[in-house]
Amino acid sequence: MKTLTALSPIVPRHKGLPLVGNTFAFIRDPLGFLLSLQEMYPRLATINLLGRTITVLQTAEDAKYVLQENNRNYHKSEAYRVLAIFLGNGLLTSEGDFWRRQRKLAQPAFYKQRLALMTDMMVQETEHLLADWKAHDTRQPRDISQDMLRLTLNIVTKALFSTDVGTRVAGISTALDEIMHYADEELKSFIHIPLKYSTPRNVRFRNAVSKVEEVIYGIINGRRREWEKDPTSRHDDLLDMLMHTRDEETGETMSDAQLRDEVTTIFMAGHETTANALSWALYVLAQQPEVVKKIRKESQQVWSAEGTSTFEKARELRYTLQVVQEVMRLYPPAWIIGRRALSEDQIGPYTFPADSYFLISPYTLHRRPEYWDEPEAFNPDRFSEAHAKDRPTYAYIPFGGGPRLCVGNNFALLEMQLVLSLLVRDYDVSLTAPDQVVVPEPMVTLRPRGGLSLRIVPREQVVSA
Ligand code: HEM
Repeated sequence: MKTLTALSPIVPRHKGLPLVGNTFAFIRDPLGFLLSLQEMYPRLATINLLGRTITVLQTAEDAKYVLQENNRNYHKSEAYRVLAIFLGNGLLTSEGDFWRRQRKLAQPAFYKQRLALMTDMMVQETEHLLADWKAHDTRQPRDISQDMLRLTLNIVTKALFSTDVGTRVAGISTALDEIMHYADEELKSFIHIPLKYSTPRNVRFRNAVSKVEEVIYGIINGRRREWEKDPTSRHDDLLDMLMHTRDEETGETMSDAQLRDEVTTIFMAGHETTANALSWALYVLAQQPEVVKKIRKESQQVWSAEGTSTFEKARELRYTLQVVQEVMRLYPPAWIIGRRALSEDQIGPYTFPADSYFLISPYTLHRRPEYWDEPEAFNPDRFSEAHAKDRPTYAYIPFGGGPRLCVGNNFALLEMQLVLSLLVRDYDVSLTAPDQVVVPEPMVTLRPRGGLSLRIVPREQVVSA
């Protein structure tokens, strides 16, 4: 191995300032910084962030190598430790054999048959939002990003806990927001004040975590009590599946603490990402009347067809799916993915010692001119069957890749297809002013900075106007 290291070419290093390295340039404009890095160093380059040397991998081939081909040598990077403060040992943050076991237990909850059972619920929740929209004064702009957050939180809540606990969960959306803010600040900060110290910020975070825990443990305990009274009682939701699933080898079910971690993870991972993608979709559609027409045509055909289940209908929303995919190309909610090498490894001609850190950016991969013609142009046809083979698979990784691929990817795609199709069927969305520009804000997820305000007008008003 020593000879390999000796022969390895030197990894290009992007110069930064003394002590702080590239931290300020990155924090000032992370997306701009990563895009210009990609132009300067087409394969890879090391940068220095918050005192840590990180290699940014720029190509689909190297992303595939780390995420898939040699994934066993790569664990998640330090950044995920911040998430682990409140996600504990859930799927997103656990590693090794423990993660493998949990993934095997949780995976069936996202199988096609399970998703099929959730389709009607997703439609109902969207219809509740449409009812709210009906009461909206169309002369006023509407905060679409808040609508999407509420909608995706309601959907993931129903998927996890069925209908009976909806109101108890409604109160925790502020707590979830507080937790995400804390994580954002921690990820960008040189200074970390341990949580045991009662600074106002730490107290707010601790309270938010307690609030979420209280609700989740309350629900788990309620289920356990029901089960004690009637061992045959079952619910048609993800929590029920997670509580009843047994490890093949040990025959054990998950402990309450593990259930808490998995449920919190699904809650957090499963709503803000999807909400952001939907907000970006509506922002794009407000500027793409031709695309709207096509979605609407498909929507009218599919929703008026008789004799098919809602799940079958959803699968017919093929063009809408292409739109969703193209939106997530330009605005991938998970805009960076971090990894740490467990032992020395060779990536192309370069050798990296154990404990090297890597960053892969779906945002820059999705805009790399070698993989995408006119990368800045919005074009859902890129995802048609005819063009699916136009690029390497890892040039498009909104859900990550390899064994750690997002477990909720089909859930999210189904949800986004349904929501968009129904909203566009019934409403026209437009910008609040012709020069309205919404810029992405790369926090834990890629949000619209300052939220997204749009005008919404019901179709019957548009048609009769
Ligand atoms: C547009 C929506 C979504 C996007 C863009 C997204 C993106 C991602 C990405 C990139 C990862 C991999 C992170 C890594 O490798 O470091 C991931 C993992 C994960 N996602 Fe999603 N996600 C979305 C929706 C969902 C939904 C709806 C759920 C659950 C209902 C979910 C649950 C999870 C979980 C549990 C993991 C960890 C999986 C594992 O490591 O085994 N996500 N997601």
